[in-house]
Amino acid sequence: MSDYTALQQTLSQAQRTWLITGVAGFIGSNLLETLLKLNQRVIGLDNFSTGHQHNLDQVQQLVTPQQWNDFRMIKGDICALESCREACQGVDYVLHQAALGSVPRSIEDPILTNASNINGFLNMLVSARDAGAKAFVYAASSSTYGDHPGLPKVEANIGSPLSPYAVTKYVNELYADVFARCYGFTTIGLRYFNIFGQRQDPDGAYAAVIPKWVSSMIKNEPVYINGDGETSRDFCYIDNTVQANLLAATSVDDAARNQVYNVAVGERTTLNHLFESIRAELAPRFPHLAACKPVYRDFRAGDVRHSLADIGKAERLLHYQPTHTIRDGLKVAMNWYVDDLTKHR
Ligand SMILES: NC(=O)c1ccc[n+]([C@@H]2O[C@H](COP(=O)([O-])OP(=O)(O)OC[C@H]3O[C@@H](n4cnc5c(N)ncnc54)[C@H](O)[C@@H]3O)[C@@H](O)[C@H]2O)c1
Repeated sequence: MSDYTALQQTLSQAQRTWLITGVAGFIGSNLLETLLKLNQRVIGLDNFSTGHQHNLDQVQQLVTPQQWNDFRMIKGDICALESCREACQGVDYVLHQAALGSVPRSIEDPILTNASNINGFLNMLVSARDAGAKAFVYAASSSTYGDHPGLPKVEANIGSPLSPYAVTKYVNELYADVFARCYGFTTIGLRYFNIFGQRQDPDGAYAAVIPKWVSSMIKNEPVYINGDGETSRDFCYIDNTVQANLLAATSVDDAARNQVYNVAVGERTTLNHLFESIRAELAPRFPHLAACKPVYRDFRAGDVRHSLADIGKAERLLHYQPTHTIRDGLKVAMNWYVDDLTKHR
């Protein structure tokens, strides 16, 4: 039995209280679904800036009424210290996901990104510490590797940030480390690589590549590749990410706490290959995709060229074992997107 399976069994027999910030977003709503299905008590905090009520409605449909009763939603902004303090009351574990994602958004509006990602982060750290939370797990980012040329990426070797977003995520790590040192507060950073799966928003100027392409292909709109398509990423299915969060929060191994970890699969996929995988997966259901070709345009400022994770540290210390390769994840996600984009919109 894997450590994660054992943890799920333990949790389902012992109710704990979790706070998920950014709960109406992609990753937050998937954490919510898993925790409620494990009969956990969950408090959610979100200002709905990029998250959606329909994500929460969908989770409600997927759990029992009794499990849904164990969820309390607070509509609030992490930039307001009082909202953070209210949300942290009586909480065992914090899974801090709320932030403004997207490298291009941060280049266009660094002040807005800084407010949520640094000021809001600090508010959450202080509130969680003062409320006596057992652990504070937060969404860090692979963008912290910046211009470091090494591949695969190893946690200890980072370069200079390439965007304001990357600066904010690195500052999160610095603050978390200092809170561990100065206050003995347990923090664990999860450097997410490119996470994808159900409920990731396909709309808007800052949508992530997989949902954006799936949506464009289904609607028979142009699919743009920034650059020559040989840019590569380590795409990680959401279930792997949820697993890493739960293992990190509940770890009682001193060596595993107050660390940062890569959360990925350790598989490198070029954008050209990704395009072909999605097209091939959708083509049987959408015949117009038989001849679909990408439209190449300029490279995008702030993007790193290659990203591939060494996940050895998370495997060793958190006993993280990804259950889905990109191929497995794409299959599940495609079914969800086809259903969502063709029936519900
Ligand atoms: N998706 C990825 O591939 C990826 C990769 C690296 C890091 N991350 C990080 O993971 C976290 C979750 O990302 P996601 O993909 O689920 O994005 P998302 O936009 O779907 O979710 C973020 C959520 O945070 C909420 N939020 C933003 N600012 C807030 C504020 N000031 N107060 C309260 N709520 C606020 C939004 O409304 C949204 O519901 C973010 O911290 C992001 O930077 C994501």
